[in-house]
Amino acid sequence: MNLHLQGQTVAVFGAASGIGRAIAAAFIQEGCTVHGFDLHPPADPAPHPMHQGDVTDHASVQAFADTLPSIDHVIFSVGVGSGKFGFPFWNLAPSDWARVLEVNLLGAVHVAHSFAPKLIARKNGSILFLVSVAGQIGSQTDPPYSAAKAGLINFAQCAAKDLAPHGIRVNALSPGMVRTDLNQSVWAASQNILPAHERKDYSAWAEEKIRKVSPMGRWQTVEEFAALATYLASDHARNITGQTLNIDGGQVMHS
Ligand SMILES: NC(=O)c1ccc[n+]([C@@H]2O[C@H](COP(=O)([O-])OP(=O)(O)OC[C@H]3O[C@@H](n4cnc5c(N)ncnc54)[C@H](O)[C@@H]3O)[C@@H](O)[C@H]2O)c1
Repeated sequence: MNLHLQGQTVAVFGAASGIGRAIAAAFIQEGCTVHGFDLHPPADPAPHPMHQGDVTDHASVQAFADTLPSIDHVIFSVGVGSGKFGFPFWNLAPSDWARVLEVNLLGAVHVAHSFAPKLIARKNGSILFLVSVAGQIGSQTDPPYSAAKAGLINFAQCAAKDLAPHGIRVNALSPGMVRTDLNQSVWAASQNILPAHERKDYSAWAEEKIRKVSPMGRWQTVEEFAALATYLASDHARNITGQTLNIDGGQVMHS
């Protein structure tokens, strides 16, 4: 299928690793110009310019947006957890919530504020937020992360309604379990609270968890998200907006 994305410009937040890195690579393969933004430099050199900054700093996000003369698509693939195992929720202190909400939710809001005027000026384009099944099922693993993702799903719907009259679509793409740094950090937090003899290595923990939560019983891959992200940016998806699309092996099903 030809996605007809050649020559378009894409900003990818969280482009240094994991799903964001794969999405950036897929847009390049489609003939797009990609500009990456991340808190950290990529482990291997990226095939596109990388701007280093923190999405919690609106001025930094705005300065990045101001360097781009025009933009067609914006991808927000930033995500962090609290670093603690949040079940029950009082394993966390209330003070553990602020940074998680700032990065996952306010970071996305900063991005939307900085790029909406540019997209409106072009009267075309899309925004895609990476969210999580955790934001749809009251996941007990990390309550501030779940709440931030639930908030972002809701904001994506608000933004989709506001931007639809301007020809711009906004969607949320929701992973279940993908082997990335973020997923490893969830495993690490879950093991820290266990006595040494009950701890599992990452592979054993991950295999057990994926069989338990996913009807398809298999991991999702970063390439699956990259494929849907490029499709959603294309004109084939011109009637898809305000949606949360799960790639999760059936972990979440809505009737
Ligand atoms: N991996 C999974 O199983 C999974 C599951 C559900 C949702 N997600 C979501 O998918 C998205 C991508 O996550 P991933 O798994 O690729 O994780 P990842 O850790 O590989 O990538 C996240 C990127 O965000 C960057 N980042 C973190 N804080 C930042 C900040 N303040 N400013 C700018 N950049 C920052 C990191 O440096 C990293 O490159 C996230 O939104 C995450 O919440 C992932």
